[in-house]
Amino acid sequence: MITTAKAPANIAFIKYWGKSNEKLRLPMNSSISMNLSEVYTTTSVEFSEKFKEDFIYIDGKRVKAKEKERVVGQLDLIRNLARIRLRAKVKSRNNFPKGTGLASSASGFAALTLAASKAAGLNLSEKELSIIARLGSGSACRSLPEGFVEWKAGDSSKTSYAYSLYPPNYWDICDVVAMVGESSKKVSSTEGHAIVESSLFYKVRIAGMKNKVRGIKDALKKKDFTKFGEILEEEAINMHVVMMTSEPPLYYWLPETLDVMLSVIEWRDKGLESYFTIDAGPNVHVICQARNAARIKRRLIKLNGIKRVIINKPSIGARLI
Ligand code: PMV
Repeated sequence: MITTAKAPANIAFIKYWGKSNEKLRLPMNSSISMNLSEVYTTTSVEFSEKFKEDFIYIDGKRVKAKEKERVVGQLDLIRNLARIRLRAKVKSRNNFPKGTGLASSASGFAALTLAASKAAGLNLSEKELSIIARLGSGSACRSLPEGFVEWKAGDSSKTSYAYSLYPPNYWDICDVVAMVGESSKKVSSTEGHAIVESSLFYKVRIAGMKNKVRGIKDALKKKDFTKFGEILEEEAINMHVVMMTSEPPLYYWLPETLDVMLSVIEWRDKGLESYFTIDAGPNVHVICQARNAARIKRRLIKLNGIKRVIINKPSIGARLI
């Protein structure tokens, strides 16, 4: 039987950058995110005796080597839990270019975990799915629950998972993504996490994290958009300072990235309120209230080097389809 799942990408307002346990992908700090309505992965999984090995297709291409190993590792976790040895055919499609800082590993591993566990005959809870997705890619654990999500750092595999803080319709905010680059990044986030401690600023970042998580949760609770935006924008810069001061330094931005950031600040100074955040890639996520999304999109499209602009609303989490 073929089982298919769809999972959204998510944008983190408080980021996960650096692990306390590399193998278990336990993060150094809790993170807060929102699932995205227009950016997602659809994955189908079939376990069968007719397959002599695992066949993995991503966006129509059969993947090999490292990329395949990571998917097979995730299938092995699920096979062990279900006590089966059957090989699988996995077909995964992103509706956006992968590896460009649009969280393809998050939506990808969330969809894979849900589809494969069902196909293997398991009936896991959202918490169990979140834990298993985390083992494939940390941020993937946040694409299982709905809407606005917290990933509790925890101190063991069982205590490190994500849960929903609020459903998608809780707050009318948007993530207007300005795509400035569509080619795959040179340094993966997995490699980036491994070198965080080489940055002089990392300890300072971690020391402030608990306070920041508390602050953004409070702003979310009060729906205080200004406070919320100020925290998420500072947080993005904070993470990128650590990235740029790692050894070797990681520069994920392109000139157009900075251009969007400065434009957002200028528009805000003139009364159009929005805030930016950026993951491990050059694309800029402009967070605004829904009533301003179309206006911001019109302005972003006019900037140099913008390839595409996508307006995302808060979304439900991973689902079987
Ligand atoms: O889950 P990973 O290993 O792809 O790391 C995600 C890292 C960031 O996207 C930069 C931050 C985050 O919390 O999503």
